[in-house]
Amino acid sequence: MNQLNHIAFIMDGNGRWGMKKKKSRNFGHLKGVDTVKKIVSYAIKLKIPIVTFYVFSSENWRRPKKEISFLFKLIKRYFTDEIERVISQGIKINIIGDIKKLSSDIKKTLNETIELTKKNKSITVNLAINYGSKNEILNAINNTKKKTTLKNFEKKLYTNNMPDPDILIRTGGQKRLSNFMLWQLAYSELFFVKKLWPDFKSSDLRNIIEKYYKRKRNFGAI
Ligand code: IPE
Ligand code: IPE
Ligand code: MG
Repeated sequence: MNQLNHIAFIMDGNGRWGMKKKKSRNFGHLKGVDTVKKIVSYAIKLKIPIVTFYVFSSENWRRPKKEISFLFKLIKRYFTDEIERVISQGIKINIIGDIKKLSSDIKKTLNETIELTKKNKSITVNLAINYGSKNEILNAINNTKKKTTLKNFEKKLYTNNMPDPDILIRTGGQKRLSNFMLWQLAYSELFFVKKLWPDFKSSDLRNIIEKYYKRKRNFGAI
């Protein structure tokens, strides 16, 4: 059976979901948080060591200010209101992305969360915030001496020496990576799901994992 260390999610479709419900794009983002909570709990149950969520891309700054500020308010609220639950579930929060450029308010919340959860062992949850894969790679290049090895280079990526995702799931129907983990997804099994992120259920994840176990991963061999 294929080993399963890491699942990455491009949680797309929140905005469309909110509009479909005749509410707002932001209503979709709010519901999207519930899906994240459910999926994390399920991943803990399945003993998956690492999950990564694409929360905010370096290109998402192109969105209207109102939506951006709502998203960051949501992130902050999640970690102030839910921190006790996060700790009691044994969740270790790790941020990947360029957080230096975020507001000091958000940085403070994120850094406190990292500190409060750093010893937790049941799962590592990577949140990709202000994340762009091309920038991640460029940043690693600029932090590398002239000649390097793959192993050392990978230590300079935001993911440091984490295992690469075994599975990538993108909801929302688009079949693209949108500047997400271009390096780390080199040999991942890709799953594109039509459902919008707020509609994605633990049972959808279970079906994907079952399919994953049946896939033959070659890594270039036969
Ligand atoms: C993904 O959902 C979440 C973020 C990018 C923050 P979208 O907001 O992209 O939702 P759609 O794709 O417009 O429906
Ligand atoms: C990808 O979704 C980014 C996140 C899920 C955070 P987008 O909605 O931003 O992707 P594009 O713009 O449709 O490619
Ligand atoms: Mg989208």
